[in-house]
Amino acid sequence: MQSSAPRTISHAPWISPAEWAAFEASGTNAHRICSITGAWVERFGQDLLFNYQNPSQLERLRDEWAARAPAYPFTPQRIFGRALPVQNADRMAPVLLEGDPGEPVETVVTEAGMKIGLDFAAGYSVGLFLDQRANRAALRSYRPRRVLNTFAYTCSFSVVAALAGAETLSVDLSQKSLDRGKTNFTLNGLDPAAHRFFADDVQETLPRLARRKEQFDAIILDPPTFSRGNKGRRFRAEDDLEALLRSALELAAPGARILLSTNCTKLNVPELERIARFSLKAARMNGALQQTPALLDFPRGTAASTVWIQLR
Ligand SMILES: C[S@@+](CC[C@H](N)C(=O)[O-])C[C@H]1O[C@@H](n2cnc3c(N)ncnc32)[C@H](O)[C@@H]1O
Repeated sequence: MQSSAPRTISHAPWISPAEWAAFEASGTNAHRICSITGAWVERFGQDLLFNYQNPSQLERLRDEWAARAPAYPFTPQRIFGRALPVQNADRMAPVLLEGDPGEPVETVVTEAGMKIGLDFAAGYSVGLFLDQRANRAALRSYRPRRVLNTFAYTCSFSVVAALAGAETLSVDLSQKSLDRGKTNFTLNGLDPAAHRFFADDVQETLPRLARRKEQFDAIILDPPTFSRGNKGRRFRAEDDLEALLRSALELAAPGARILLSTNCTKLNVPELERIARFSLKAARMNGALQQTPALLDFPRGTAASTVWIQLR
């Protein structure tokens, strides 16, 4: 999930043509191409999405793109713009700035060969959070047998795990997002009927799974900064992440890996590590904390803060 909080960026903001080619060569056509403070540009297959806080940033980025475009092996089919609001309540779907309005708003992108369906009209988020790419790759490399993907959204973590042979359980409040997740399974030649999808509140589902003595070899915890769940139950990352991790630890098989990730600006990596150590101690469990490699298209401080816990 991408943060809209402005962070100062001090390096060359556009990826190089060689980096673009490296994404292509790795089977990835969904990545950032530019980041400046408080604004960025994403490539999604044949389309570009300009994210900006004010019109002058949009103008600057479009001018810079126009000057640089000939260097890249790419001609965008469409250009979308998405205003980044101060308040979540003001979030709106991207708007088409250039291109044929008659073209379908749904498209399919690839990440290391995995296919993910996007929808530019579905809402504020189009269907794939690019800053979780390294965490998806890490999950795939762990080859877990049983995976619990909480706050699953369009189930991209579940799909990578299933491609590596896992049985997955995806939990999200939104049936619509889970239905998109099932389509993502199908797009990748995976049978969604062989996997579980629970349209429910994660905070209520985890204790229920624990009562049933379910166990998982990998658990994904990448919640939103704030949400309201069933019966108006509140989730606020800064207050509730620790309790979420404690519930997840009850479901962790020996040697399990747990991803703790957040865009909440109050929870940086040292704070996540503190929460992880404290929760392990409270649960009388041992674990090692690991980082995922930085992404070349996300300047420092612009991707979600992340810690992987590996239980001993
Ligand atoms: C930012 S997305 C998660 C992104 C996801 N981890 C990924 O990488 O694609 C937040 C998702 O959490 C879901 N959600 C929010 N609160 C929830 C809750 N209490 N229980 C279950 N799902 C929730 C929303 O419906 C939304 O799909």
